[in-house]
Amino acid sequence: MRETVHVNLPGRAYDVLIGSGLLHDAGTLIAPLLHRPRVVVVTDETVGALHLHSLQEGLHRSGIEMATLTLTPGEATKCWAELTRCVEWMLDQKVERRDVVVALGGGVIGDLVGFAASILRRGVRFVQIPTSLLAQVDSSVGGKTGINTRHGKNLVGAFHQPSLVLADVDVLGTLEPRDFLAGCGEVVKYGLLGDAVFFDWLEANGALMAQGNVQARAYAVRRSVEMKAEIVMRDETEQGDRALLNLGHTFCHALEAATGYSDRLLHGEGVAIGCALAFETSARMGLCSQEDPSRLRAFLKDMGMKTDLKDIEGSLPDASDLVALMGQDKKVMDGQLRFIMARGIGEAFVTSDVSLNVVEQVLKDSL
Ligand code: GLY
Repeated sequence: MRETVHVNLPGRAYDVLIGSGLLHDAGTLIAPLLHRPRVVVVTDETVGALHLHSLQEGLHRSGIEMATLTLTPGEATKCWAELTRCVEWMLDQKVERRDVVVALGGGVIGDLVGFAASILRRGVRFVQIPTSLLAQVDSSVGGKTGINTRHGKNLVGAFHQPSLVLADVDVLGTLEPRDFLAGCGEVVKYGLLGDAVFFDWLEANGALMAQGNVQARAYAVRRSVEMKAEIVMRDETEQGDRALLNLGHTFCHALEAATGYSDRLLHGEGVAIGCALAFETSARMGLCSQEDPSRLRAFLKDMGMKTDLKDIEGSLPDASDLVALMGQDKKVMDGQLRFIMARGIGEAFVTSDVSLNVVEQVLKDSL
């Protein structure tokens, strides 16, 4: 079982392969990109312990040697110091301009290694092997790379498209249930922003997917990647439509800041809550019917996903402080906050025309 989504960007086109056994076949799949049979791989301790051996065997089967750098897992790794370490290590390994760098891990490794590849020798190619659901459906596709600084998340980076993405759905079997469900926040986002039929599918098959059904997982990853690819092909550098991918994220970023980017709230959990809040706000502004947020909330609850602010452990700032945190969002343009609102399930749009009083009331009611 293997599917291909082609991301057709002029001069930077690549395939996203989705299916089983991709680590096993990594050598055959990566070999056509190589000028010499050698790659460098960056991973983290958790993912490395689980999957590095399979990747190494997969590469060796095709006669490809690899050198590995293993980093500490967690968001704190997406920083200047680890970027320096990564780039200097690649230079120690004598990575040349025509070589290929491999990122094996979740969103942190993909973003960091992609950024390192974008600046190493003014840009070398890289392959994403995303191992979390969130990375498979979102961060490994579309070329956003970068690190965090003391000013905030993802504030330094580059658009650097991968040359190949291998989304091996077998590796999702090693995820903790909480991490898998967090990734579902990004999956449901796609149904909500542009494909009501996919949302229907998730309502019918979400439980199967969470229980580990590989076909259901592969379908959810493929449909998400197809939608992301379509949007990225229309608007690679987020001048317009790509902002739709930020549905739920204005709320999410405020909540992540309020919880100190800690394990109290995983990014995908914040996205799920943010989507529920965005739909509630849309309904209260008369943009969509009240049935839509109710249906979304019912789905999230059935899946066992976080839905409301009260699902976040510990205390949160009050609603007005959360609104103030939203003002720090990267999407602020000319001093105006931009929201992704919806006219219904599958019908999201970008607007600055949102009453912050309504947003504050929605947040209050969710606390
Ligand atoms: N994760 C949002 C984007 O890639 O644009």
